[in-house]
Amino acid sequence: MAIIAVHDLAKHYPGPPAKTAVERVSLILPEGRILGLLGENGAGKTTLIKMMAGLLRPDSGGGTVLGYDVVRQAHRVRAGVSLVAPTADVGIDNNLTVRQNLAFWAPVYGLTGRRARQRIAELLERLYLTDKAEAWPMHISAGQRQRLALARSLLAENRLVFLDEPTNKLDADGVRSVRDLIRDLNTHHGVSVVLTTHVMEEAEELCTDIALLSQGRLLTHMPTAELLRSVARVRPIRATLAGPGVLPTDPVSWPSVDRWTLEPGDQPGDRVITVWSHDVAATTPALLRWIARAGWRLVRMTSDRPSLDDVFEQWIPAPEVPL
Ligand SMILES: Nc1ncnc2c1ncn2[C@@H]1O[C@H](COP(=O)(O)OP(=O)(O)OP(=O)(O)O)[C@@H](O)[C@H]1O
Ligand SMILES: [Mg+2]
Repeated sequence: MAIIAVHDLAKHYPGPPAKTAVERVSLILPEGRILGLLGENGAGKTTLIKMMAGLLRPDSGGGTVLGYDVVRQAHRVRAGVSLVAPTADVGIDNNLTVRQNLAFWAPVYGLTGRRARQRIAELLERLYLTDKAEAWPMHISAGQRQRLALARSLLAENRLVFLDEPTNKLDADGVRSVRDLIRDLNTHHGVSVVLTTHVMEEAEELCTDIALLSQGRLLTHMPTAELLRSVARVRPIRATLAGPGVLPTDPVSWPSVDRWTLEPGDQPGDRVITVWSHDVAATTPALLRWIARAGWRLVRMTSDRPSLDDVFEQWIPAPEVPL
């Protein structure tokens, strides 16, 4: 059964200024996936997450999350999911240390005694907070508070986790720890994750599926690999070859090639071959085999893979800038 199955969710804020934040969004997510919700500032990502987590009542539409009705059983949805908001200070008590904060919440999520202590120690360790365990929340950095909020929400061991910009504000180690934790929750504990991010490389690295929102509308929703393939356009593969070797003749036998060019390299006898391909993954191995057969030594090779930046470029037109 799908862990999320919502249809026609809509939300209008009366304003001023009045704003349709989400317009009839339908989304089905099978259990065990990591869905990246991407879109420009104000696209409606946070509003959609709040509706799916049972925190905000949709104006229209409905469906189920964890099998519960998102409107009529919103309280059950709220109790069954974890949500970490970008300004996730809610639930952090400044009169308790970092560890005490987690210990305070553990029984709320059904964790007591040794199990609670173990889980808290594990989350502190994994989110690089062990050395801050006895510190007051006011004395830790914004990124550390964010990781504390994440630790708190993960005490619950829920099957579905919503993370709204989980790595925003974090330094390189923080980003790494949060990404590793998300992957581990998903791979080893079967947790389904819905996350938003403005870092395309993060979405590509983590998400099995991508949903693209723009101006409140869902533009597309598909597995990440498929979405990347869908923006296929001709891309260059550039190889520097050290000679002597045999030169290619037209037509070349490498698959998916649109055209190729040959130029002299920096060193005498070297050549730079640029092959324009519709499918870099298919052309590259065939090109490498040809280079070896033709007697060249490969000095370097670069290619330009499709990325989610290309997806964005194709699906979301740049805003018109008034002159
Ligand atoms: N409480 C509110 N009252 C009025 N308008 C709101 C409210 N919350 C959000 N909006 C508007 O709804 C639209 C969608 O906002 P939302 O926060 O869902 O976008 P987002 O995709 O999460 O953006 P970001 O990437 O900046 O976090 C925006 O135009 C925003 O100004
Ligand atoms: Mg947001």
